[in-house]
Amino acid sequence: MAERLEAEARLKKAQGDLVQAAKLSALGEMSAGISHELNQPLMAIRYFADNARGFLARGRPEVADGNLQRIGEMARRMGRIIRNLRAFARQENEALSDIGLAAVIEQVVEMAEVRARAAGATILWTAPDAPLVVRAGEVRLAQVILNLVTNAIDAMEGTPERRVEITARRADGRAVVEVRDTGPGIAEPERIFDPFYTTKSVGGEEGMGLGLSISYGLVQSFGGAIRGRNRDGGGAVFTVELDLVERAAAA
Ligand SMILES: Nc1ncnc2c1ncn2[C@@H]1O[C@H](COP(=O)(O)OP(=O)(O)O)[C@@H](O)[C@H]1O
Ligand SMILES: [Mg+2]
Repeated sequence: MAERLEAEARLKKAQGDLVQAAKLSALGEMSAGISHELNQPLMAIRYFADNARGFLARGRPEVADGNLQRIGEMARRMGRIIRNLRAFARQENEALSDIGLAAVIEQVVEMAEVRARAAGATILWTAPDAPLVVRAGEVRLAQVILNLVTNAIDAMEGTPERRVEITARRADGRAVVEVRDTGPGIAEPERIFDPFYTTKSVGGEEGMGLGLSISYGLVQSFGGAIRGRNRDGGGAVFTVELDLVERAAAA
């Protein structure tokens, strides 16, 4: 008995170490990517600032004004990158709690509804028959699922049929959330969790390529798993798997 407890404790520690190592390597990868990402607008700001001074010296303030405008845009872009990172860091410290999955997904559907309508897409949410309670950070989990839904909506731009189907069910003692779409499918499935991998036009509020890489770390910190693949019949499907909280009292 003592031996078994000891083995279990060792296993738990090994798992904890693995999660920690994965978090650190994700962070390392991310900081490398972020330095690169911040460096580009920074170089451009220097260039436009030097240029603006030159134009001012030559009495061409209207051209200098254009340069200053570009500088403002770059600074805003840098601010967005840093904001994303700060949100990520803050949420790391938020406590986990027992959460009803359906309520979180309903919230997400509500948040995504306006965007879906604007894009001519329909969101179909099928609630589970029985409550599914998982241990996670509520805001973080909502962020993960919202990114999956907005990715699906983005992917279906230009497809005649635009439908996002969301389901949550119990499978092998775990809760599985599935987000399927009728878009063109994932171009490079092996790259989607890489920081800054995006096929969207850069400069936009979205299209930072951080959504899935951040989601990967978040889901892992809940002890779960996130996967994405192409469906046989076309379109993409993403799954988030989480451990269920089994409560004797609730049975
Ligand atoms: N439902 C989907 N269908 C097709 N491609 C997808 C889908 N979801 C994600 N992707 C691909 O994965 C990339 C990375 O997604 P993400 O990390 O959320 O960053 P972003 O949304 O900023 O591009 C997307 O740019 C897209 O190429
Ligand atoms: Mg995204």
